[in-house]
Amino acid sequence: MMFFMKYYMAPLEGITTFPLRNAHRLVFPGTDKYYTPFISTTDDFVLKKRDLRDLLPENNRGAALVPQLLTNSPSAMLRTAAKLAALGYHEINLNLGCPYGTVVAKKRGAGMLRDPGELDRFLEAVFRGLGPASPQISVKTRIGISDPSEAETLIRVFNRYPISELTIHPRFQKELYRGTPHLELFGNMFRESRNPVCYNGDVECPADVQKLTADFPALDAVMIGRGLIRRPSLVRELQGGPPASREELLRYYREVEAATAAVMPDENARMHRMKEFMEYFGPSLAGSDHRLAELLKAPSWSRYKGAMEAILYGS
Ligand SMILES: Cc1cc2nc3c(=O)[nH]c(=O)nc-3n(C[C@H](O)[C@H](O)[C@H](O)COP(=O)(O)O)c2cc1C
Repeated sequence: MMFFMKYYMAPLEGITTFPLRNAHRLVFPGTDKYYTPFISTTDDFVLKKRDLRDLLPENNRGAALVPQLLTNSPSAMLRTAAKLAALGYHEINLNLGCPYGTVVAKKRGAGMLRDPGELDRFLEAVFRGLGPASPQISVKTRIGISDPSEAETLIRVFNRYPISELTIHPRFQKELYRGTPHLELFGNMFRESRNPVCYNGDVECPADVQKLTADFPALDAVMIGRGLIRRPSLVRELQGGPPASREELLRYYREVEAATAAVMPDENARMHRMKEFMEYFGPSLAGSDHRLAELLKAPSWSRYKGAMEAILYGS
């Protein structure tokens, strides 16, 4: 069963932009799909420059990439999806999971789960508006705002539409990323779903996937976020390959840094970007070395580089 499992890299805003995705595909090929961090739709349906750059086919050659939209407007969803289809994208993912206050207050992301009737009307309008040449719509969702009974209502709403894949992160909006995923509620939604389901949440090592497949033998897709940044060879290991060697980890780091430098000439911005990556990836290169702590609190790019040299060359 595990042999046929599909593995995806989850979208992580501020981390999984195209420099990291390309470095990951180069050094650790085998991940079935990547997702862009969420793209907020705009009132004039124009893609922001930074979002467009992350999506342009020339920056993502050969990648199986799914753009993710954060929106509560059917027309913005449809118009933006049409633009993405023109760039060659066949699947667009809808973010119903972002749990943060500013997003939720605007009734976007997980904020759309609060009112299943409204969510139903939104999906109705989106699916009604799709044409034969439109991309498929997939959804990434949480299990509700705070109450277990919500999951049952939500799956009934999702079942009314031909969602190409429903990724379920079994936490409530109120939990943010705290506590353990609610596997029982995931199981209920998975069993009831008429659409293909993908599991997402807290997968850190091969044993975690073994446990999932033992609990849910029919599961055939897993999306991994932080675990795949911490352990970039995780998908290869799940496919029967070896863990990363130190040389591979170093090469991966260098690829990420070089590709990030190419798009972020500003040293301060680059340092912040690299620190977000290193918060997760750092321990796999440096263990709990005090030099990693130094790198993460470096006040400038040159100090960051100094701390990195010490990690790389052990000075
Ligand atoms: C820093 C950070 C940024 C994230 N950005 C996004 C995002 O842009 N879109 C999205 O759907 N989920 C986002 N998520 C949620 C992840 O995709 C994923 O659902 C969550 O981290 C749980 O999976 P994991 O335990 O495998 O990391 C983000 C999570 C983190 C920690």
